[in-house]
Formats: sequence, structure tokens, C-alpha cells
Amino acid sequence: MSEAITMDAIPHTDPITLFDEWYAEARKAEPNDANAMALATATVGGAPSVRMVLLKGHGVDGFTFYTNTESRKGGEILANPQAALLFHWKSLRRQVRIEGPLSQVSQERADAYFHSRPRVSQLGSAASDQSRTLPDRETYLSRVEELAQHYADDAEIPRPPHWTGFTLDPQHIEFWYDRPNRLHERRLFTRSGESWTSGLLYP
Ligand SMILES: Cc1cc2nc3c(=O)[nH]c(=O)nc-3n(C[C@H](O)[C@H](O)[C@H](O)COP(=O)(O)O)c2cc1C
Repeated sequence: MSEAITMDAIPHTDPITLFDEWYAEARKAEPNDANAMALATATVGGAPSVRMVLLKGHGVDGFTFYTNTESRKGGEILANPQAALLFHWKSLRRQVRIEGPLSQVSQERADAYFHSRPRVSQLGSAASDQSRTLPDRETYLSRVEELAQHYADDAEIPRPPHWTGFTLDPQHIEFWYDRPNRLHERRLFTRSGESWTSGLLYP
């Protein structure tokens, strides 16, 4: 077998640094939303659900996204604060899986991120009873318009208390790398205290 196939393509380095490197490549390669990730949550009884969210911060403290705590996912997270994240960067043919417990970001951080968003996005979030039944689209759009009039003249739109961020504290991070002839490579990093151990998995 050629050396190109037998050599490890995924380095044994710290997975947060490795994530940074892959993410930087994805931002150049993907046509849009390199920060889109599937977020899997589960009820206390173990029934899973999954949807896309956007990664809005990452580093040694974890991986952060923002959402509505009164949504379906929000209810599941508050009752069972464990989750899994999945990135699939199709242009690079790479996958990253991340698992761990979730905690809410501080009020200050949620406020800062909320107010950094375009005004119409702030209005859209404030007007949305996310995941609850909407009788028709007009109802939502007129709620957005009412709020726009209420907070006219650039008045600050308060962040709804149920709109906040969660940070996943990674305990497991797995990198999947496409190799020729479907002889793919997987490396699983597992956290142990402040450090990480890693090993290969069969593809
Ligand atoms: C690419 C993409 C990014 C999204 N980003 C977010 C996000 O950051 N936060 C969010 O609450 N919903 C986001 N959504 C919408 C969610 O996928 C989902 O429809 C919504 O949060 C309701 O999910 P739930 O009913 O499971 O709570 C995004 C959808 C897509 C397709």
C-alpha cells in the first residue's frame, strides 16, 4: 500500500487547535455557512431531536450557539443539558463530531451578541415564539412590524430573557477525513482533566 494511504492525515495535536485549522479551511472552501452545525439534543427519556444552528464562538471554553430557551431544543436542553454537534464540510469532505454538557452563557455575553446582530434579526428573534404553532406567516410578520414601530428611531431592542446562548464543553471530539478508496480516517480525542488523549477508530 502506498505511503500516502498508510500515513495518518489527522495530526495528534490538541483538538481545539486542529478544529481551528479545519474551520479556517472550511471558511475558505464552503460556499456559505461554514459555521452551520447540526445540534442534537434529547428529552430526559432519551428521545433525540436534531436541527441546524450556527457556531458563534469557540475556543478552550467550548462551542457556543444562540437560541430560544422556550423552543423545542431549549426545553430539551434545560431538562437534559447534554448535546452533540456535527459539522459536515462537504467541499472538504470532512466531518467533526463534538459531544459534551451545555451551560448558558452569561447575561452580558448574550446581550452583547444579541445587540451585535442586524436590527431586523433582533426584531425577528424578539417576535418569534420559536417552535410553537404559527397560524399564518402574516401573524409573525405583523409582530415584527409592531416591534419595529415600538422601537422606532433606533431605540435599543431589549434581548428577550428567553433568547440566550449555550456553550458546549467538549468531552469528545472526533475528526473524520476522507481518504482514497473509502479507506477513511477517524481520530477520536477524549478529554481527561485539562488534557486530551486520542486514538484512531475503524472507519
Ligand atoms: C443553516 C441554519 C442555521 C440555523 N441557525 C440557527 C441558530 O443559530 N439558532 C437557532 O435557534 N435556530 C437556527 N436555525 C433554525 C433551526 O434549525 C430550527 O429550525 C429552530 O431553531 C427550531 O428548532 P427546535 O424546534 O428544534 O427548537 C438554523 C437553521 C439553518 C438551516
